Amino acid sequence: MNLPLDIIQQTTTPFYLYDLKLLHNTLDACISESNKYGYHVHYALKANTNNEILQIIKEKGFGADCVSGNEIKKAIEIGFNSNDIAFAGVGKSDAEINIALDHNIFSFNCESLPELEVINEIAKGRGQVADVALRINPNVNAKTHHYITTGLEENKFGINMWEMDDLLERLPSLTHINLIGIHFHIGSQITDLSVFRGLCIRVNEIQDYFIKKHVQLKHINVGGGLGVDYENPDTNAISDFATFFKIFNDHLKLLPGQQVHFELGRCLVAQCASLITKVLYVKNGVKTNFAIVDAGMTELIRPALYQSYHHIENISNTSEANEKYDVVGPICESSDCFGKAVKMPHTQRGNYIAIRTTGAYGEVMASAYNLRDRVKAVYIN
Ligand code: LLP
Repeated sequence: MNLPLDIIQQTTTPFYLYDLKLLHNTLDACISESNKYGYHVHYALKANTNNEILQIIKEKGFGADCVSGNEIKKAIEIGFNSNDIAFAGVGKSDAEINIALDHNIFSFNCESLPELEVINEIAKGRGQVADVALRINPNVNAKTHHYITTGLEENKFGINMWEMDDLLERLPSLTHINLIGIHFHIGSQITDLSVFRGLCIRVNEIQDYFIKKHVQLKHINVGGGLGVDYENPDTNAISDFATFFKIFNDHLKLLPGQQVHFELGRCLVAQCASLITKVLYVKNGVKTNFAIVDAGMTELIRPALYQSYHHIENISNTSEANEKYDVVGPICESSDCFGKAVKMPHTQRGNYIAIRTTGAYGEVMASAYNLRDRVKAVYIN
């Protein structure tokens, strides 16, 4: 992404710098590859709910994938079409179910029989019928960080196949539920794309089960999860959408008229932002030099929470990176560290540092811990 030092110097740090041109290019790449197969892509709002970013994504024609009532409200406010909004989450409150019904959304991605019963009751009380997809836990290993693995039986998400006979027996009595499809989401930051082939094979088996039960499914939603290259953000700025969608086209068996839906978050927005921060102090230790910067885990929690790697660079000094620094924030937690032994050129107070690939699950996960100011955003074209 473009990191113009002149613009950066005009803004008080820390802030997220969004490269809108890269965002447009990424979205266009996704659209042209998914259109080849007539796939419907919903943007997973949880990755980034910044208004400017949402506006661009909406204008490109993406649907929305929401996980809270407020995300549904936000999607509507931005102008996403309510017929294109899917609503997932293991713990939908009554108030949130009502918000979704207010807007006649495309689909509740329902995660348990008790939830199905509650949605049925609420819809009945309102004289409505709720369109529902069953979120199924396919027991497929996404081979990613255990905190962002969602498709294993040990995870809290989705309905297990061994519960399905009971559920289908119960379904005819749920008169205010209209079953429109099935939904899967096995995890996030998936870089081994063979995992998606495994998902397709499992979805095919599950489809066979529904065919045997004479249940018709119009929509197959295979979720999100396509990863990005955190190590090489410049050489690999756009995820391999061509291979990703082709895997589904090659391996997913569809019935006539079935529509395939995706819920992509990270791969659409991660590379278009960097967290820009300034070095406050350099502390030379015995073994380690610390570059203490003015952003902390309050602005970007991913390294502290998932030990995730983000490429870090000193953009004020672009000479050879021949020193090592632990790049740490000002928060009173030892986990407030963006990277250990990061290779950088000689680094001093006042230098600008870019923490790359932070457009997804960055600004949106910021907190006010230590009563920190809300992190700002700056946009370049
Ligand atoms: N659909 C569902 C039901 C999801 O739970 C998620 C992400 C997505 C779609 C979008 O997945 P994506 O395409 O972004 O991988 N905060 C973590 C990531 C949590 C992902 C949660 N679910 C992180 O910073 O890595």
